[in-house]
Amino acid sequence: MKSSRMWPILLMLGAACFMSMAACTWAASQGSAHPGGNSAASSDDDANAPYKTFDAVPAITMPPLLLDMSSTSVVVEWMTDSPGDERVRYGDGRLDHEIVPQQDGLIPVGAMHRVVIDGLLPGHTYQYQVSSRRVVALKPYWPDMGRTVQSPVYSFTTFDPAKKSASFAVITDTHEDVDRIRGLMDMIHREPVDFVAHDGDGVNYGVSENQLKDRFLEPMSTGLQGRVPLVYARGNHEYRGEFARSLGGYLHAQDDKYFFTRDEGPLHLVVVDTGEDKPDDTNVYAGLNDLRDYRSEEFAWLRKTFTQENRTTTAPFTVVLGHQPDWGWLDGHGEQWTQLANRAHIDLFIAGHEHVFQYIRPGERGNDFPILVVGQDQVARVQVSDTELKVVVTDRAGKLADEFSLKRKGK
Ligand SMILES: [Fe+2]
Repeated sequence: MKSSRMWPILLMLGAACFMSMAACTWAASQGSAHPGGNSAASSDDDANAPYKTFDAVPAITMPPLLLDMSSTSVVVEWMTDSPGDERVRYGDGRLDHEIVPQQDGLIPVGAMHRVVIDGLLPGHTYQYQVSSRRVVALKPYWPDMGRTVQSPVYSFTTFDPAKKSASFAVITDTHEDVDRIRGLMDMIHREPVDFVAHDGDGVNYGVSENQLKDRFLEPMSTGLQGRVPLVYARGNHEYRGEFARSLGGYLHAQDDKYFFTRDEGPLHLVVVDTGEDKPDDTNVYAGLNDLRDYRSEEFAWLRKTFTQENRTTTAPFTVVLGHQPDWGWLDGHGEQWTQLANRAHIDLFIAGHEHVFQYIRPGERGNDFPILVVGQDQVARVQVSDTELKVVVTDRAGKLADEFSLKRKGK
């Protein structure tokens, strides 16, 4: 029996049929969406009738990328060739936990998938697997669905501030050069690292999701093999282009910011966004940039981080990771950032942007700390213990560019 509240809908459909053949087709297609021939309008009594399932399996076009690892959580991102839902199964030894995210009560459907796993234990190794079920047509009732694709099972290890040592590799300014990324990743995998940092300018400017995937994220995620986390610092080129305003959905840290801190063993890592390299009022931005306010907000955060986070003084080494070695355009106030870092007794600033190697000694620019500028075709490998931080910079030909070590300071 039809419920009385369906009558207005039936009347509306009837009117729509009278006015438009397209609406009649819509109504008919609802009726064909499940065996038994019930129309959408008569459906409430038969809500458990099956929806259509096509034999269409999504392809995973970007394997899982582990972004912004912490000691208790991590972001997992992957992409599929067509719209689908998203699910992560994970656990310690077996996949006995499952996350299906929802946003305002709806499970996200799209080609880009981003899921945060939290509630993890520090220094623990977990297995995980991602999956997406194809959504063929997102109809109001009985959406047309497809099959599910599952990734292989991968594993990751959460950060652990209590660890005795930490290791990471830094690359930068890959600028959409896929061969460069693959070559640098091959170098990195010759010795294991806890994480890889990309110091910005992964793209020349933001164009589209496919461009971001093909020229940056897919080669990075393939290179990281689903097990090595990525720490990303935003470059000035990531401010540009029609897709720049959407990049946060792919590259933000867990709290939806581009500046954050992380701790791994003796390392306290402070990731900053060094903004653009030209003034807001330069005509190239046509008045569409407001770095002045954004960087003030970031400065307040950095001051709070340096003065209130215990790890700034208790961690054996504090390393700042940021794209531009001079903190970017700050309307002449870059010196304040240097003074803030001096007062926090940071041990090292690792930058990119210049495309060639530089080592800026303490004192050269009012800095009490060395500034390492990693070149475009180089890997900086950093090993941190309780007493020493060692850096080895190698270029893609395998030639040593520089090597130095820093002793722990009294703070
Ligand atoms: Fe740059």
